[in-house]
Amino acid sequence: MSNLITILAIESSCDDTSASVIQDGNVLSNHVANQDVHKDYGGVVPELASRMHDKHIVPVVDKAIKAAGIQISDLDAIAFTRGPGLLGSLLVGVNFAKSMALGLNIPLVEVNHMEAHVMAHFAEAPYPEFPFLCLTVSGGHTQLVLVDGYNQMSVLGSTIDDAAGEAFDKTGKIIGLPYPAGPVIDQYAQKGTPRFDFTKPSVGEFDFSFSGLKTSILYFLQDQVKEDPAWVDDNLHDICASVQHTIVTILLEKLEYTAQKLGISRVAIAGGVSANSELRTRLQALADTHGWKAFIPSFDYCTDNAAMIGVSGYYRYLDGTFSDQSIAAAPRLSMTT
Ligand code: KG4
Ligand code: ZN
Repeated sequence: MSNLITILAIESSCDDTSASVIQDGNVLSNHVANQDVHKDYGGVVPELASRMHDKHIVPVVDKAIKAAGIQISDLDAIAFTRGPGLLGSLLVGVNFAKSMALGLNIPLVEVNHMEAHVMAHFAEAPYPEFPFLCLTVSGGHTQLVLVDGYNQMSVLGSTIDDAAGEAFDKTGKIIGLPYPAGPVIDQYAQKGTPRFDFTKPSVGEFDFSFSGLKTSILYFLQDQVKEDPAWVDDNLHDICASVQHTIVTILLEKLEYTAQKLGISRVAIAGGVSANSELRTRLQALADTHGWKAFIPSFDYCTDNAAMIGVSGYYRYLDGTFSDQSIAAAPRLSMTT
């Protein structure tokens, strides 16, 4: 028996099944099984996602425990994503976590997926000091979050329609790219020039909007294709560069405005879209210009992963925040703090 606190974390909110072992806040293992089945559908098909979680959960947990070099009997708690996410996907992880905690007679720690994306910054050094401002950009959410402590955060603003990741994915669908289109657009954009202008939204001071951009891109492309059916193929790299440049500009203008308004000099990004190369480079440049400190997660901790669930769960464990066996998945779980 060691005095270290060892937590198994489970993430199954969307289309990635992940398990991780965290010891005293340090990541010992982090295993993710992606789901390729959604590629041709332009988005995640919930029914297929739950079936794949069901197939992956046992081998994924097994790999995470073996890679961590621990025994199941070493575990002090099971942390799991309670929400937000797809109900069928969450149910697999929640019920697995509950059964395992029941079988081992150890505590259950529920974690909010969006809080966990922010807490990914404590999966590895350098750790941000508090307070810091985090732009959380994923496939389902876009939030500006003020972080005052471990799992202590408040949402200052969010998207009123599509999320930033959705803007990438839906644009990708329009131009015929597979789902998820974000990483593909990122790749193509590196070979292109952002020479097309798209309209930028004007919304509440800390809020975002992306559905107008999607419509503006759609109409622009339809007009071009009317004149020349091969236009999209011939200009693919420049289209991707322009779309990406616009999305990143919208995100960073709000982040800059908010940080200045709040007088905050530590800025961070989190969530799947924080893997975007232009967002990462331009955030660092913005921070350098203002003399701010930028915190940019490693790629493994940007997209969905259980390490971030384990890190968030570890700080909840230290606070003694446990759930009992009556806990249920919460697809629309909001930030509580
Ligand atoms: O956080 P995440 O893995 O899952 C959710 O909680 O939604 O985020 C997935 C999103 C997708 O929309 C995907 O297209 C986007 O992150 N994404 C990217 C990149 N990598 C993933 N978007 C832009 N550039 C990337 N390199
Ligand atoms: Zn996520």
